[in-house]
Amino acid sequence: MTIDEVKIGGLGASRKRVEDDRFIRGRGNYTDDIVLPGMLYMEILRSPVAHARIKSIDASKAWQIPGVRMVLTGEMAAQRNLAWMPTLSYDTQAVLATDKVRFQGQEVACVVADNPYIAKDGCEAIVVEYEQLPAIVSPKQALAEDAPIIRDDKEGQTGNVCYQWEVGDKEATDRAFAQADVVSRMKLHYPRSHPSPIECCGSVADYNPATGKLTVYMTTQAPHIIRAAVALVAELPEHMIRIVSPDIGGGFGNKVPVYPGYVCSILCSILLGKPVKWSEDKTGNLISTGFARDMYFDGELALRRDGKILGVRFHADTDQGAFFSDAQPSKFKIGLVHSAFACYDVPVGHITARGAYTNKAPGGVAYRCSFRVTEAMFFQERLMAAAAIDLGMDPVEFRRMNLVRDDQFPYRTPFGFLTDSGQYHKCLDLGLSAIGYEAFLQDKAAARLRGRRLGIGISTMTEPLGAGNSREYDILGIKMFDSAELRVHPTGKAILRTGAKTQGQGHETTWAQIVAHELGIPADDVTVEEGDTDTAPFGMGTYASRSTPVAGAAVAMVARKIRAKARKLAAHLLEVSEEDIEWELGRFTVRGAPGRGVSIQECAMAAYGNMPDGMEPGLENNAYYDPPNLTWPFACYIVTVEVDPETGVWDVLRTVAVDDCGVRINPMIVEGQIMGGLTEAYAMSNMQFITFDSQGNCVGSNYMDYLLPTAWETPGFELHEVVTPCPHHPIGAKGVGECAAVGGPAAFVNAVMDALSDTGVRNIDMPLLPDRVWEAITTGQDVS
Ligand code: CDP
Repeated sequence: MTIDEVKIGGLGASRKRVEDDRFIRGRGNYTDDIVLPGMLYMEILRSPVAHARIKSIDASKAWQIPGVRMVLTGEMAAQRNLAWMPTLSYDTQAVLATDKVRFQGQEVACVVADNPYIAKDGCEAIVVEYEQLPAIVSPKQALAEDAPIIRDDKEGQTGNVCYQWEVGDKEATDRAFAQADVVSRMKLHYPRSHPSPIECCGSVADYNPATGKLTVYMTTQAPHIIRAAVALVAELPEHMIRIVSPDIGGGFGNKVPVYPGYVCSILCSILLGKPVKWSEDKTGNLISTGFARDMYFDGELALRRDGKILGVRFHADTDQGAFFSDAQPSKFKIGLVHSAFACYDVPVGHITARGAYTNKAPGGVAYRCSFRVTEAMFFQERLMAAAAIDLGMDPVEFRRMNLVRDDQFPYRTPFGFLTDSGQYHKCLDLGLSAIGYEAFLQDKAAARLRGRRLGIGISTMTEPLGAGNSREYDILGIKMFDSAELRVHPTGKAILRTGAKTQGQGHETTWAQIVAHELGIPADDVTVEEGDTDTAPFGMGTYASRSTPVAGAAVAMVARKIRAKARKLAAHLLEVSEEDIEWELGRFTVRGAPGRGVSIQECAMAAYGNMPDGMEPGLENNAYYDPPNLTWPFACYIVTVEVDPETGVWDVLRTVAVDDCGVRINPMIVEGQIMGGLTEAYAMSNMQFITFDSQGNCVGSNYMDYLLPTAWETPGFELHEVVTPCPHHPIGAKGVGECAAVGGPAAFVNAVMDALSDTGVRNIDMPLLPDRVWEAITTGQDVS
């Protein structure tokens, strides 16, 4: 009898998330839930100003407060060579400021005490004398000739440029522009945004002076990278470091970098020989941890009169803040921004990019995004919308003409990527029919006659998920593969561990489904563990929607290794040669005699009690997976809106999403990922604004100013699916976690701009707050 794969929770089953049992019962185990005997508490003193020389730090009063155990300053950290640390992007970052503070909220000192309140009192008792310097709050200011040098700590640093990068063929692109009938230009700013996870960052460092072992419980999306970084920075032997990343209340990229708070808690634990806990508060998180975006684009498309794209070129200036500290693959200084226009047939292109240091918290973190892909896709789709207007063409026809056709795969983009699969036109057509494109255009025209402003916005994109193959992708020299280890116990139950680290994405549910698909072991019989470097195989962690493309592939591969051994055991049990064994889900049978068979569970028992002569006992294995390529999901998002011309307020009428992420492991989880991404996309386009005044004060470091969308504001989403299996992934899956957050913002903005199409306004920078939209309507001018 064959096993029903959906019943055992295999591929394609909308299995309920197993992790949610503990979350909804309040039994999650987050970093702040960790309490160790004798534990002390750490608070950080942050700089109130954005740019200043430190004249003096007087900590004497803090030391006198009863219950204060340690006041750590940069000077003390420097004695242990820890005042500065390397970043994941080959820069350096101050752990505790010694010479200058370079952004508001920078870590200046920290206090360890018997409880967090005393530690906070201790921070308040520290007197720091600052000599204020002019603050720089934009790349334009930073790159001006007479700008003060922010990173004067770096030898040979003569200005505020932190990197320059270029890709593509400049000469060929210039030729394409010389031949163009129409050149369409777009200048825009993708503003700063903040991943803003519900749980802030934190750590509990526990150095045991007797054994020399350091255990750190912490909020990290990439525990193994942290272990390597701690080994290098703190000069501790790597085998004596254990990083445990327990439940994480949302990461979104915010929990990839190494933060000074982690390092300080470790240093204080080593110095005191006691466990030290650091729990960041909301303001601390919003003001100092990794920001996203803050990128200025200026670029153009070369077009033939009939709408064919001949070439693309653009320049991007990024505001990196005071330290270049977010993670990028080493080779790509500005992440994967050159994946822009990958879904279109563009013959040539050229990109230049420049990063600037400013007096802001370190930025550029990949917030639900594969290393700046969100910015790239937003610029791409805003430029596409503007070009259609310049050509006087329907935006759908313009896209249809230029989208890569199914018969063009594998397709090499002008910037060197190889997209390998997709049905772009099918997705677009499905989206258009779902929204009722033609009927909406008629409604829009009729509404305009009555003074109402309706608009429709389209965004189509493919993005590179699953960094990446070891030829091209590494962080700090460590290649970006991933791993899985599977142990099948004698009774056929199993434990799976991977090098990824879930932060709410549901890996405990979906990885077990891959095992069920490969082995026929019910998903409920498979425990999934991630995040403990003492037990999990080495992996590069979870960000950039890389888990399914890389760790998920490793899960399938290790299960296949187990199946190969189980086949030998089956042959032994059935007393036939291995060649005569056939596989059906969960069971081996004898060729020609399907009634004679053994289950995978019987094979598991035999692995421990009845193995053939010469066979190593046990049914365990591991797999390291180095993906041959990135995976390339495709998405088409279509939004309709109505803009109130009196107030600038806009309401979403409908949002249609068509996602092709290849084979879906768990359709329900995939839909949840898309809805979450669309919610973030809506928030970015509509309400999220974290900005800085001319002094470098962070305006918006609280949730009264920095708005998170609630169920009240969030519109409904209509989801549709196309499946084009990934040709190189063992189960045909592509990543999906960030697609909607990446492709969604342009659909919302394009819809509002379409509603304003008769005003002559070309662009309003996000967020499209009512006052900005109103200003555009009333002045007929762009708003940036
Ligand atoms: O790396 P991250 O987990 O953030 O992103 P992902 O690999 O795109 O996966 C997000 C969630 O969606 C995971 O639980 C995946 O297993 C699930 N997923 C799926 O069920 N089918 C896919 N084709 C892709 C992801």
